[in-house]
Amino acid sequence: SDEPPVVFHLLPWIGSTVTYGIDPYAFFFKCRAKYGDVFTFVLLGKKTTVCLGTKGNDFILNAKLKDVNAEEIYHPLTTPVFGKDVVYDCPNSKLMEQKKFVKFGLTTSAFRSYVTLIAEETRQFFSRDAPSKRFASTSGTVNLPPTLAELTIYTASRSLQGKEVRERFDSGFADLYHDLDGGFVPINFKLGWMPLPHNRRRDRAQKKMAQTYMDIMTERRKEGNLEREEDMIWNLMNCEYKNGTPVPDKEVAHMMIALLMAGQHSSSATITWILLRLATRPEIQDELLEEQRQVLGTKADGSIADMTYEDLARLPLHNSVVKETLRLHTPIHSVMRVVKNPLPVEGTPYTIPTSHVLLASPGVTSRVAEHFPDPMLWEPHRWDETPAEEHAHLAPSHVKEGVVEEKEDYGYGLISKGAASPYLPFGAGRHRCIGEQFAYLQLQTILATVVRDLRFQNVEGVEGVVGTDYSSLFSRPLSPAVVRWERREK
Ligand code: HEM
Repeated sequence: SDEPPVVFHLLPWIGSTVTYGIDPYAFFFKCRAKYGDVFTFVLLGKKTTVCLGTKGNDFILNAKLKDVNAEEIYHPLTTPVFGKDVVYDCPNSKLMEQKKFVKFGLTTSAFRSYVTLIAEETRQFFSRDAPSKRFASTSGTVNLPPTLAELTIYTASRSLQGKEVRERFDSGFADLYHDLDGGFVPINFKLGWMPLPHNRRRDRAQKKMAQTYMDIMTERRKEGNLEREEDMIWNLMNCEYKNGTPVPDKEVAHMMIALLMAGQHSSSATITWILLRLATRPEIQDELLEEQRQVLGTKADGSIADMTYEDLARLPLHNSVVKETLRLHTPIHSVMRVVKNPLPVEGTPYTIPTSHVLLASPGVTSRVAEHFPDPMLWEPHRWDETPAEEHAHLAPSHVKEGVVEEKEDYGYGLISKGAASPYLPFGAGRHRCIGEQFAYLQLQTILATVVRDLRFQNVEGVEGVVGTDYSSLFSRPLSPAVVRWERREK
């Protein structure tokens, strides 16, 4: 049977790499107009078949384990960064167990403590007397991407990663992180193994970082009776594989690095887009503040009351701001799989051969008018009518105190409604994100905390938001992206 049409190109190995790399969405929409939802393009010498639409998402994300494979394509890039024996450097069944361990640590009581820690860290960060002196006066301008990358890593490390990791960020850890991150670039899908300068720095940083986590574990064991922190390190140190082996320290260390890397870019890009978008709509910032005042009430001094984890579910506009931002600024624009068996595409004459790679881009379905009227408009109020139960991330009923219910056969207890939804910023199927609830918690808490203290607007003469930088693995705002800020209470 037939193969999908191949996107026209002039240079054999380069193919459409450059057009795709500059703006994948522009490329996908153009190809879709010409070839339909299923087409093949050449990406660094590899025939890559894109399947768009809700059917395409479902076809790729819910394909059977025997038919598609993620680790073969991701591991050259991820293994040197995360370390061995975790995520894509092990059989899929082991990854499924590791995801379940992580899920197990994301309990309601852990989440309760995280909200407090993240709010505290955020308040300090934006306060007049923050060590950075960035927000020392009553108004000014700020370049959001690097600023919020810093805040994101502080908040994630203070909560999920544990206090020792947070403390180390005030010293050398930030440089290590930076060197490690240098390995997280698309070209490393091909050149990850090469002893190039950036890869050497990556390898050195990976070793030191893994050792840091191992030292933390040794230290914690020595202290023995130290009050158990509700963080991921403790949780993983106490997990056991089905065959009865505890998770070796080295694997705990590598999983912690994987979580740090997986969460950092997506969350930091998202909070940056949120504040950039809000700067174009100052009235929504006021609405957010009003929502908090109504729902949380005020303290004796007139300030808004502190927020708890349970409160997050009672702040629908905050939720919609995050949700709408993830719709238009989906951090992961391409999800890839290697084809292991010839795959017929239902409803088409095509069969995808095993020499191809498959590419899903759920960000496309979240940008079409059929599903989202006036799709390129950022409008959090478009979610106003969404029933509460559809906000799965707000109802972590499947994560009771230390209990992970097994809802379906991936074994890590996710509510996965299949891939029929046009809105899948966290993916679907067995590789679906496990960080969704944590990401929402982190983003909503930062958002709620920052709008109390500061008000943002575009600098004079600027309209709308900056363009997107697609050159890294994650879509993020181009830097610099400067906005004006003003302290609410002067
Ligand atoms: C997987 C998105 C935050 C950990 C994924 C996938 C997507 C995604 C689309 C599926 C990848 C694939 O199918 O190939 C996001 C977004 C985030 C976010 C948009 C934030 C806004 C996080 C955080 C963590 C995390 C905070 C860690 C705490 C993971 C892990 C996987 C994953 C472990 C599983 C990989 C696999 O099974 O192959 N994420 N993520 N993510 N994410 Fe996230």
